[in-house]
Amino acid sequence: MENRQVNIGIIGLGTVGTGVARILLEQKDLLETRSGLNFNLKTIAELDWSKERDLDLSCVNCTTNAHELLDDPEINIVVETIGGYEPAFSFISKALKNRKHVVTANKALIATKGMELYKIAQENDVDLLFEASVGGGIPIIKGLREGLVANRFESIYGILNGTTNYILTKMHQEDLDFDDALKMAQEKGFAEADPTLDISGGDAAHKLAILSTIASNSFIPFDKIYVEGITGITKMDMNFAQSFGMTIKLLAIYKRYNDGVDLRVHPTLIDNSHLLAAVGNELNAVFVKGDFVGNTMFYGPGAGERPTASAIVSDIVDLSRDLLLKEGEKYCNRAISLTQDVRLIPVEDIENRFYLRFTTKDEPGVLSMISGVLAEHNISIASMVQLESHGKDNFVPIVLLTHKALEKSMNEALEKIVRYDFVKKDYLRLRIFE
Ligand code: HSE
Repeated sequence: MENRQVNIGIIGLGTVGTGVARILLEQKDLLETRSGLNFNLKTIAELDWSKERDLDLSCVNCTTNAHELLDDPEINIVVETIGGYEPAFSFISKALKNRKHVVTANKALIATKGMELYKIAQENDVDLLFEASVGGGIPIIKGLREGLVANRFESIYGILNGTTNYILTKMHQEDLDFDDALKMAQEKGFAEADPTLDISGGDAAHKLAILSTIASNSFIPFDKIYVEGITGITKMDMNFAQSFGMTIKLLAIYKRYNDGVDLRVHPTLIDNSHLLAAVGNELNAVFVKGDFVGNTMFYGPGAGERPTASAIVSDIVDLSRDLLLKEGEKYCNRAISLTQDVRLIPVEDIENRFYLRFTTKDEPGVLSMISGVLAEHNISIASMVQLESHGKDNFVPIVLLTHKALEKSMNEALEKIVRYDFVKKDYLRLRIFE
């Protein structure tokens, strides 16, 4: 590598791309001091140059044509920050085939097409890194792959979506219903105009697929993860949770058992004394248990220009060190190392404690019918709360917390319970974190 200069091309100058350019220009000396390398932002490809970005790009080749940098033999590292599936997939594949290292924050693409891309990277002796795809600025992928490399991962519990964490926090702190908290998140810029992927749990599932693939050394297909979003949660549930000394968080869960791994994304009641319960607003956190290290927690901003760019630049610096190797010297491809074929345990076979909220008629025998069905399915009640009836229809909310029970048994019991005409169909079932 001549003059220890690393030539970088960025595709996409949106929020994240702008942050990466800003670091490469403003922190150039710091990066050089720390790595001994000269990072040269050579080319940026962006379709819309009309936007004001507060960046001095006078020394950068600015183009609307991504192929200009993909075909440039001097570019060593390509940063993809356009997001989505296409043309991101085609641009990344072309960069890898042209033997350029690639850095991306594109979680949806890595979680679904990651295998294809790792294969292309390996065939071309280059690497594909994606630290920013999970947890924004939190170095969780390096944390798992490097800092905790000596450990088997027993469990990973992540608050991996800032939008839903913000909504749930506001529902709790300001006693808001879901729709009002979502509106507030949109007004403050923490939720997209179309928040579907976030509130449905899909975004957290993309991130869980990536973390679990690394943790298990086995490709975890994103569409095999059991996912529930947060749209069914009301402020009444938040208040009930608080009355039990708990709060509700959207948790992404990886748990290793002898016969496979349990992977789920769903709203979960967490005891207020747990560190994860204190992770508020748009922040993210990942609670990791390794067999040697024990419990660890990674915490920080999961999105935004500066945190996401910080993670991307850490990958750029990492890859640049490989560029110092001489032709023919083999570096260790670290995109992913898949050595196992792990079994995914069906969600029906998992045991949880449950939170059940029904709306039932306030009349004799209702509770004993419900508890009777639960008992038939070997489900034991741990606590119960009923609010007093105020409405004319004599229906009241009842909340039950159960001891551990099989998901399958709970599904069967719920099916029977909601068939009673004294129970409204709009029940809610949540799991309790243990
Ligand atoms: N939509 C994501 C979130 C952004 O709310 O966390 C970062 O991936």
